[in-house]
Amino acid sequence: MRRLAWAFAAGLVVGCGGGDDTAATGEAASTSASSATASSTTSSSSTGMPGPKSVSFPSGFLWGAATAGFQVEGGLDATDWGAWARTAGKISNDDDPDQGPDAFAHADDDLDNLVAVGMRAYRFSLELSRVYPTREAFDADTPDADGLAKYDALFDALDARGITPLVTLHHFVWPDWMADPAQKNDPQGWERDDAVDVFTSWCERMGTRYGDRVDMWVTINEPNVEASVGYLAGLWPPGVSDTDRLATVLKAQVRAHAACYDKLHEVDGAAQVSIAQHNRVYEPIAGDDASAKAAKHSDYFWNTWILDAIVKGTVDDDFDGTPDGPPDPTLVGRADYLGINYYGVSLINANGLSLPFVGVIPQQLDIADGRPKTDLGWSIYAQGFGQVLDEAAAYGLPIYVTENGIADQGDVNRTRFTAEHVFELGASIARGDDIRGYFHWALMDNFEWASGYCPRFGLYAVDYGDPARPRSPTKAVSFLHDLIAAGKLDASTIDALPAYVDTGEPCSSF
Ligand code: FCB
Repeated sequence: MRRLAWAFAAGLVVGCGGGDDTAATGEAASTSASSATASSTTSSSSTGMPGPKSVSFPSGFLWGAATAGFQVEGGLDATDWGAWARTAGKISNDDDPDQGPDAFAHADDDLDNLVAVGMRAYRFSLELSRVYPTREAFDADTPDADGLAKYDALFDALDARGITPLVTLHHFVWPDWMADPAQKNDPQGWERDDAVDVFTSWCERMGTRYGDRVDMWVTINEPNVEASVGYLAGLWPPGVSDTDRLATVLKAQVRAHAACYDKLHEVDGAAQVSIAQHNRVYEPIAGDDASAKAAKHSDYFWNTWILDAIVKGTVDDDFDGTPDGPPDPTLVGRADYLGINYYGVSLINANGLSLPFVGVIPQQLDIADGRPKTDLGWSIYAQGFGQVLDEAAAYGLPIYVTENGIADQGDVNRTRFTAEHVFELGASIARGDDIRGYFHWALMDNFEWASGYCPRFGLYAVDYGDPARPRSPTKAVSFLHDLIAAGKLDASTIDALPAYVDTGEPCSSF
């Protein structure tokens, strides 16, 4: 059964229109025809594309892997996501986030595993609800001793191995004293009057406590995803579809980021601060003008609006693509680098649907576009990575790829996916893009939000059938190890890898 067309990242659920399993037409089809990964069963690589035969990475290039607290820690039940997960039907298979990889108990193994890949950086989040389980504790600034001890131990474990931390301060999850999906008609999280103040204090306190151990900070992970999936698609907490509320959230996130940026610089002189921005390629589903226009505006809404705000200080409160006035000095220059998460391409279907200010962003991932798919049905489009990186590079800031990875439970496609994407990254560097690091999502299998445990993103697989949660390396581990050690990747190496396998998209995006 064809799933409802759903935008993993931005979007509105649309159940019809242009989503038939027919070949894409127009630009989408021509793009896929020239794609190096044009079919789900045939092998091809970047050698099929014009471009370098080999790419190399500078010696200081930061190779790492990423996780996020709620997805790996467990025990974060007093949160909006905890409440969401306890509500029947919200998570695939009603999977329980407390049955995950149990990261604190396995920190030594996981970090040894990271080092074994040849990586020397780890991205993870500090969770507000773990440090301040109650509003009273937050207001009195009496952090939870056990929560802090867990993070202290993690920093010690990183130090002991010489691993560079990249710390996220908000990765989708709010404590229940800031957001409760059962009260979804009340302001939630970023919508609340106190959200910017609460978040700025959180940044100040974590910057003060850990600033001597952390230089690289991500304030907010994927603000566009959190806002759109929670407030437009309604598939994550608070589970509403309301464009006014979506706009409120996006604007608050930008303000909160800027305030957090300033505070971190105040308390941590060496801080390098950004967001992790989820950027995608947008292609019109069909060749008509309306679809082309819709794709262009989706690109602006999704890829550009936030970065323009925090880099250039652009205020565009009606999201029409035209600044409302001069740059806002309280926003301009609030990124020391750009964190970019890349997962692929969205096909945009104008289809007569129009949302206020967003233009049209129904987008579809599970359409036959000639590209191979991940287990979640997301199209694999490595060449788009280069495009997204070039667009980001135009901001003139260094780039760290803060996430890129694949759901691949059979461990049949991860190596090729990783090789092709890393090759594109190398080609972007060769074109002059200032890209300084790559964090694979994820270090180990984890709780993939509304999709539960089905999607296996880990470089290391976790055996959920065993209470000890043992880890084992996927094939991409030795591949990445050799690549990192060599500091280069030849296109011919990719050619020699097995073709993509059609796994039948076993996991649901919602
Ligand atoms: C990103 C999220 C991350 C993970 C990956 C697969 O959007 O930042 O937590 O879920 O997708």
